[in-house]
Amino acid sequence: MFQPVAIAPSILSANFMDLNHDIKLIEDAGAGWVHVDVMDGHFVPNLTMGVPLVKQLAKSTTLPLDVHLMIANPLEQLPWFIEAGAHSLTVHAEALGVSELVEAVALIHDAGCAAGVSIKPHTPVEALLPVIKDVDMVLIMSVEPGFSGQGYIQGSEEKVAQVVDLCRSMGVAPLIEVDGGIGVTTAPLVAAQGADVLVCGNAVYAAEDPARALQEVQQAAEAAREVALAQQEA
Ligand code: DX5
Ligand code: ZN
Repeated sequence: MFQPVAIAPSILSANFMDLNHDIKLIEDAGAGWVHVDVMDGHFVPNLTMGVPLVKQLAKSTTLPLDVHLMIANPLEQLPWFIEAGAHSLTVHAEALGVSELVEAVALIHDAGCAAGVSIKPHTPVEALLPVIKDVDMVLIMSVEPGFSGQGYIQGSEEKVAQVVDLCRSMGVAPLIEVDGGIGVTTAPLVAAQGADVLVCGNAVYAAEDPARALQEVQQAAEAAREVALAQQEA
């Protein structure tokens, strides 16, 4: 924890008719990952993108593809996304029973990909326990999953702090990713609590200058993180 904050722009807010351009923009601006929001119309009300697009994306960018699976049947679909070229695959704890969650993480790791587990805003952090020692990343939702452009749920940074504490108590240090309503004013809140990866949809792609917006969010997060680190050391 407390390493440089990476920005993972969500292409859900990009222009689908000009994706290559919108991805090049964030590559040049220093994005760490491309966040791909997969929604199935069942686990969440919205329907977005799937395996064929991930396959194309893998050929079009050198950035790692951070695939966020908001789907009801991840165990069935994981092999397809792995085959399509995802680098990191995150499943929702709410979509799976305990043994299935363990199975999903093992399946992702067996394929050589990074595994993440996500929790929705009202899911207690204890839902992470079955896999917390095994995952590479925990994704904390700071909006109800389903749509980009929603407002950050106030107090979500407390959830980040809880997850960081839980990880410390278990002696593990997965990356902490926060997703939903993250921009220049909310990034510092979660970065100060230990977030490592920030998903930004509208804050980047709805901005007049997406590259500058990305860098401003990153700088604001880094600054907050430095202050928090200095306070910890004092
Ligand atoms: C929400 C998605 C998010 C979302 C981020 O269900 O998982 O990744 O698109 O968009 P913003 O940053 O606009 O909230
Ligand atoms: Zn997402």
